[in-house]
Amino acid sequence: MRLNILVILLSVVSLVNGQDAMNQFIDQVMAKMTLEEKLGQMNLSSGVGNLPVITEGEGKIEFIKKGLIGASGGYNSQLAAVNESRLGIPLITGRDIIHGYKTTFPIPLAMSCAWDTLMIEKMARISAIEASSEGINWTYSPMVDISRDPRWGRVAEGAGEDVYLGSKIARAYVRGYQGDDLSKENTIMACVKHFALYGASEAGRDYNTVDMSKVSMHNYYLPTYKAAFDEGAGSAMSAFNVVDMVPATGNQWLMTELLRNQWGFNGFVVTDYTAINEMVHHGLGNLETVAIKALKAGIDMDMVGESFIGTLGKSLEEGKITEAEIDQACRRVLEAKYKLGLFDKPFQYHNKKRAKELILCKEHQEYARKVAAASCVLLKNENNVLPLNKNAKIAVIGPMGNVKKDMLGAWSATSDTTPIVTIYQGIKNISDSKAIVKYKQGSYLTENEYLLNRNRKKGEELAIDKIKSDKMLSDAIELANNSDVIIASLGEPSKWSGEAASRSDISIPACQTRLLKALLQTGKPVVLVLSNGRPLNLSWENENVPAILETWHAGVQAGNGIADVLFGDVNPSAKLTMTFPRNVGQIPIYYNHNKTGRPLIEDYKFTSKYLDIPNSPLFPFGYGLSYTTFSYGEITTNKVALDKDELLRASVEVTNTGNLSGQEIVQLYIQDPEASISRPVKELKDFRKIELEPGQTKTVSFSISIDQLKFYNSDLVLDWEEGDFNVFIGTNSEECQEVQVEWIK
Ligand code: BGC
Repeated sequence: MRLNILVILLSVVSLVNGQDAMNQFIDQVMAKMTLEEKLGQMNLSSGVGNLPVITEGEGKIEFIKKGLIGASGGYNSQLAAVNESRLGIPLITGRDIIHGYKTTFPIPLAMSCAWDTLMIEKMARISAIEASSEGINWTYSPMVDISRDPRWGRVAEGAGEDVYLGSKIARAYVRGYQGDDLSKENTIMACVKHFALYGASEAGRDYNTVDMSKVSMHNYYLPTYKAAFDEGAGSAMSAFNVVDMVPATGNQWLMTELLRNQWGFNGFVVTDYTAINEMVHHGLGNLETVAIKALKAGIDMDMVGESFIGTLGKSLEEGKITEAEIDQACRRVLEAKYKLGLFDKPFQYHNKKRAKELILCKEHQEYARKVAAASCVLLKNENNVLPLNKNAKIAVIGPMGNVKKDMLGAWSATSDTTPIVTIYQGIKNISDSKAIVKYKQGSYLTENEYLLNRNRKKGEELAIDKIKSDKMLSDAIELANNSDVIIASLGEPSKWSGEAASRSDISIPACQTRLLKALLQTGKPVVLVLSNGRPLNLSWENENVPAILETWHAGVQAGNGIADVLFGDVNPSAKLTMTFPRNVGQIPIYYNHNKTGRPLIEDYKFTSKYLDIPNSPLFPFGYGLSYTTFSYGEITTNKVALDKDELLRASVEVTNTGNLSGQEIVQLYIQDPEASISRPVKELKDFRKIELEPGQTKTVSFSISIDQLKFYNSDLVLDWEEGDFNVFIGTNSEECQEVQVEWIK
């Protein structure tokens, strides 16, 4: 009966096209809705029952039947919504599909290091194909928060520190999830988060204050979100933090003036988890007041907090909000459902046959392996310790060497642990039958009680035992002494990065370093294979270990992908997208910092520096080695003086000077040395990933227009200013060739 109403409405509007058809259909649905039902559409319930609220847990289905929930998950919930609620409006079903569904890919920070937007797009496509077969039609991804602070655990979820690369990657995620038609059964709606500036939490502590100039936000933080919206992302998620001291969730400037009026976004905005309720803690008023602020700011859906459904009815009666404001939010949610084809085919996303065929299928797993290998960054390789000989006696030693779930990293709730390939297993899989590969744990992950306590589940014992710790170490040394080469598999378990997982000390924990030192003392070659979710302080390791491979949390195919690189079946080509500091004292540290009035001059006291360490990072943005070597020629240009309509063509010859074929990411940076505001020392403006055979040379050419010179000035106008520009092309943000050109208006 209820379904019939929608079916009749759909057939009435089917003669009309596109936007008009959608508007007519939604007009007619909304004409039938009560106020409560409209508020219901603006209410997302997770159904996990962990909040003292009205629609969670047991009673969820009853609330769905009453039309009081607009977004939730599960087949039975959809059945209740479609067949048993008065109007039969289907639910939209969101999940955090951040780096794969069941086929879990490396963490997003890792994948960004491949500088390969087609790869990200394909990864997102696979994620959508898998997730959409099990009822999910909306993902809380991409996370496009720029961050310059590796203490913040959520850097694992993003694409690093750079706005240019980050924007390209943001677009790739959206294309991959949404495909060319959102209403198809295998495409899902993207939700761009966390709007905005969440990555700039002070001191890298999650949920902390953000305080930033408007010029900085416009130039370095906002463009990644805008890029994702320009690509057509259907929804956005508000951030937990303040923007200009007003919580993002209640920030009218951000959610309406910027997002809708200036950027023309026409999707819907959901809050982050209970972010409206949290405005009470921010000190913005009681629940009723903050719900009003959120609605008026431009929020359309309340995630889990139930402030909209709980308070807006009363606020309307009291004349504090208008029905038009509620209608607008409700309409945007219904539009999303319409675009997803949910009114037409509410069950198209529940498809057991597709799920069985596609989830974790061979093709997806093979791609996950490829992505894992493409995301590994070779940080050091003295005396060509790598690649390994496939016939060797290999000791895999360390607490990350034989673990499954910790290969996945943050946001892997939808994953399956069974198919995960450990590093030890991957090495065994790929080495020759004559090789001897053995494993010992060697140490705990940490013996730091404070950290262990923070991570401890209720009732769980602190399982650190000194005798066991010493025994693990001596067993490991014995194995190391009987091997040709040692893979020291160290790092961070999954739960040390991601949400609510900030660290003040980003070095490898002391007990793991004790193990590493002991392994080095054996005199055998040691390869440090790191599994972690953020840039680490590797100063000591870089001084003392001959080879370091950063593999991040590499996903379900971690072991195979990492072993492909260790044995040289894949030549590493990834480059860092976040700066690695020498120690935490340098943070925030990022390559596109501004000039100071007192740049460093050695041997002169009053310049900008530390007394105890250099200013430079340990590993700069864009850095990463290969098993081959590349040399760069000088930059040649078509012109050195240009006017505004002219394109600069800057070229460089890159030669593979080693013995193996390999890929190189050639990076183009520009500096505007004199402008109306102080500008960065350089900014990434383009890049190319090229493949070269040994001895081969390729000319890499970039075309640069005035669009790449534009920046937001003090009046927040996006424009360029004439004068000199320094153009850099190179292998990372520090090692570049440089030329100067002049552009005149
Ligand atoms: C996180 C979001 C996530 C949401 C839903 C929040 O705590 O900040 O990134 O999408 O939960 O799981």
